[in-house]
Amino acid sequence: MQPAAYDLESRHPGWPARLGPIRVAAGDVAVRPIRLRDAGDWSRTRLRDQEHLEPWEPTGPGPWRDRNSYWSWPAQWTALRSLARRGQCLPYTITLDGEFAGQITVGNVIRASLRSAWVGYWVSSSVVKGGVATAAVALVVDHAFSSAGLHRIEATVRPENTPSIKVLTKAGFRQEGLFKRYLDVAGDWRDHYCYAMTVEESGPGLVARLVAAGRAEYL
Ligand SMILES: CC(C)(COP(=O)(O)OP(=O)(O)OC[C@H]1O[C@@H](n2cnc3c(N)ncnc32)[C@H](O)[C@@H]1OP(=O)(O)O)[C@@H](O)C(=O)NCCC(=O)NCCS
Repeated sequence: MQPAAYDLESRHPGWPARLGPIRVAAGDVAVRPIRLRDAGDWSRTRLRDQEHLEPWEPTGPGPWRDRNSYWSWPAQWTALRSLARRGQCLPYTITLDGEFAGQITVGNVIRASLRSAWVGYWVSSSVVKGGVATAAVALVVDHAFSSAGLHRIEATVRPENTPSIKVLTKAGFRQEGLFKRYLDVAGDWRDHYCYAMTVEESGPGLVARLVAAGRAEYL
């Protein structure tokens, strides 16, 4: 159910929150607000996983090792937390069995008559193919449609990114179209499919649907 109009007047409905855990093949998946002390796990994982992550992420300034160093996290954490406090973003860490496993962010939150946002995510190469990203997307989108009061969530993905397309499809997103030369990723303008879901399409909830499909279990 969507929150009443007066709840939506809060500047950051739904923030902060801890979501899950739910059990999938890889283990128990939960999401929680990003922390300053994620720096070590965040940087270690991303420095090791450059090949796994770089082809799908927006091009950034400077070399990968600088942008993902231990000391680059505090500035990113501060920027994301400040957006979260203003109700423009919900930045989460994904955990698997209580350990750092990746990030999932609901960004560009627009309220008023649009009540829309995008979702973006990545997980460590050490945990892929176990349902972790799908579980995180389901937890976060259910939260976005309930406590956070949003109506539509969008995700853009390169046509070559088969695993991410599978995540969105399993979570119940619908493909809406192709954005030509949409985003500067890995050094060039890349086409992206647009996937989306509205609250009406989420039915009993994404987690409930994963559980019904045998892809997840409540704990
Ligand atoms: C995309 C990503 C988040 C998926 O994470 P994940 O935890 O492995 O996702 P899930 O296990 O929930 O689902 C992935 C699905 O893709 C499948 N898959 C993985 N690699 C595949 C490949 N090379 N070809 C075909 N299918 C593949 C998995 O088997 C799984 O499907 P299944 O459940 O039917 O078996 C992860 O690979 C990642 O972080 N990639 C780099 C960053 C990125 O692409 N972010 C998204 C940008 S839009």
